[in-house]
Amino acid sequence: MSEASLPFNDKFYPSAEKIGSGDKRKQVWEESLKNPQEFWAEKAKAIDWFKPAPKVLDDSNPPFYKWFAGAELNVSYNTLDRHVKGAKKNKLAYIWEGEMGEVRTYTYYQLYREVNRLAKVFQDLGVKKGDRVAVYLPVIPELPITLLATARIGGVHAVVFSGFSAEALADRVNDSGAKILVTADGSFRRGKPVAIKDNADRALKIATTVEKVIVVKRTGQAIQMQEGRDVWYDQALAKAGSSAYVEPEPMQASDPLFILYTSGTTGKPKGVQHGTGGYLVWAYWTLKWAFNPTDEDIYWCVADIGWITGHTYNVYAPLSLGITAFLFEGTPDYPAQDRWWDMIERHGINILYGTPTAVRMFMKFGEQWPNKHNLSSLRILGTVGEPINPEAWKWYYTVIGKEKLAIIDTWWQTETGGFMIAPLSGIELTPQKPGSATFPLPAVNADIYDDKGQPVPTGTKGFLVVKSPWPGMLTTLWKDPERFKQTYFGRWPNIYYTGDYAVRDNEGYFWLLGRADEVLKVAGHRIGTVELESALVSHPAISEAAVMGKEDVVKGEVPVAFVVLRSGFQPSEDLRKELVKHIRTTIGPIATPDAIVIVNKLPKTRSGKIMRRILKAVLVGAPIGDVSTLEDDASVEDIKNTYEEMRKQLHK
Ligand code: PRX
Repeated sequence: MSEASLPFNDKFYPSAEKIGSGDKRKQVWEESLKNPQEFWAEKAKAIDWFKPAPKVLDDSNPPFYKWFAGAELNVSYNTLDRHVKGAKKNKLAYIWEGEMGEVRTYTYYQLYREVNRLAKVFQDLGVKKGDRVAVYLPVIPELPITLLATARIGGVHAVVFSGFSAEALADRVNDSGAKILVTADGSFRRGKPVAIKDNADRALKIATTVEKVIVVKRTGQAIQMQEGRDVWYDQALAKAGSSAYVEPEPMQASDPLFILYTSGTTGKPKGVQHGTGGYLVWAYWTLKWAFNPTDEDIYWCVADIGWITGHTYNVYAPLSLGITAFLFEGTPDYPAQDRWWDMIERHGINILYGTPTAVRMFMKFGEQWPNKHNLSSLRILGTVGEPINPEAWKWYYTVIGKEKLAIIDTWWQTETGGFMIAPLSGIELTPQKPGSATFPLPAVNADIYDDKGQPVPTGTKGFLVVKSPWPGMLTTLWKDPERFKQTYFGRWPNIYYTGDYAVRDNEGYFWLLGRADEVLKVAGHRIGTVELESALVSHPAISEAAVMGKEDVVKGEVPVAFVVLRSGFQPSEDLRKELVKHIRTTIGPIATPDAIVIVNKLPKTRSGKIMRRILKAVLVGAPIGDVSTLEDDASVEDIKNTYEEMRKQLHK
């Protein structure tokens, strides 16, 4: 990769935040790595511990690191009780706006009371420390309330994004072995009710560990309540009493707080497990360092709580800091294309933490939408989930930030628990470069390796790795410690492998260049190509499938499926539609392929491996290249024909 292909020296100096030289950030970073014990012992003071840590890091059994080993705390206590006991009792914790424009607010005290009541319900239903609570809810206040109530009694939550299908839900609930499922009668999508309780009912025919289902009334649509299994949330809370109090369970810092399933390079989603102490310390400090929210700010992270961004930056980080967070259920363009800007103006939102896909969508809608609104309350902007291209960055900076606001481009992953590479307005704001997430956070010992495990020179693309443990890191994969070791530490011992490509410029700025494995980022959602391929071949018409990501101007990339039919099936529009439906019901609408290309044969090497580079060439419209390693000579012609056929289908 040549330096010229990246805008390495295109620096921006937003005026609303004070820009520093970078020396202070560098100094804190160096200090954190030189003496992590001392550094984190100091930072841990921001959290209330029932029992302080005898040891900051137990690294006796790598890569199973134990941060704050031996310490005890409770996350619900740290996000609620300690604020309620102090000056923040009546401060707003959440302002929520629903899809239909309705607004609900919760002070810390109100949130605390409701969390206690739900915790009591859980206790009465027999949920004990270590039990899993599955959650399948849209972004309504009952979602964070469920997470906090679970944490209060020492349960482990496993949230499944409410856009996942019944089958995907069943797989995840089954794997987690959850005893309880919290769901809703429905959710809203573009003003229309979606039957998520139906999905839950179907999932529970397969996921049989669930004994009780708590159902929040959201849409009021008619649903089946199963006698003896299903209880209404409101009724359960009423029974628990209005002043229920549940003692927060003292948890070991390394006890699991939650499991969150994410896609990897195999068909089976990984249950990423996060601990309690290290995760909370990391959530607290990363938000403070990067966005530096103040007590007066209204902070909005647009992510759904079904994903890690919502877990950390809509629940645990803002509430442990005691700030006011805005929560939104809905889409950016419903009922109109200025929904975000309208909400920012009406609620006086100060911090907007958004996504590249949303920014690119707004670019397409046009400046007239944000320009209709007074956005002067905004003081800092953020982005996450996929690389932000410099054009989108500049639009965000100019049209939304009025060339004044810093853009906090945060690179991280479900596994990392919180931000890893980002500009830090809370330490000393780094001069910005459009499209670069800038530098690693304190404690993040990031490097870029070649395939032999050697650091690459400046300007050379390589694999992003992290060379030391950090407090927010996943503690293991649920019920699969071997896979945890293999996936993240198998390539180079004790070196965390991120699965991302990156490059460093001559000033040390990091540029993230997308995934290095079989994982796609579709509108920021993480989707494994193997997962999609398995879903496709589970359809009776499909014998083989290969899924690739194709560049997309709004979504970053979209999946394209190449499939071979079983004998007796003919290509048709109806079959393509049926396959799309099949994906939507086995995974969910987020995995819908952009195109399904039906072919006679997939291009393969002599050893039977699918030649992905040929599929890639088809996708980008590039020449076919050298095909001499194909499985047999006769197939070269075949492949060329298939290639032409695929091209015609795709680029018609
Ligand atoms: O490829 C990187 C991309 O998202 C992946 C992690 O996805 P997930 O676990 O779903 O978490 C998303 C929210 C943290 C990473 O491996 N990614 C995330 N943020 C960025 C990014 N790529 C470039 N720039 C980012 N800011």
